[in-house]
Amino acid sequence: MIICSCTVLTSEEIHEAVASLRTKDPFVVLTPGLIYKTLGKRPKCGDCMPLVVKLIVGYDEEGPVSAASFPHRSPFDDTPPAD
Ligand code: FES
Repeated sequence: MIICSCTVLTSEEIHEAVASLRTKDPFVVLTPGLIYKTLGKRPKCGDCMPLVVKLIVGYDEEGPVSAASFPHRSPFDDTPPAD
């Protein structure tokens, strides 16, 4: 799933970057900027940042998940998720 339309960054690439960074240093502080730098990309508009953060947090809380299992919600949707 494409997460960043500006750089055509996918959730799979983000998960691979997180996994790579966690393997190199389990205590690394992950930020969207570090993820972009690791992937050799630079964000432009920044609209995707909330979603990138959600993916990073989700990876740390639940481990790597497939893009298909990631619930897509707009980063601007304020309604609470159904549990
Ligand atoms: S959507 Fe990611 S930088 Fe614009």
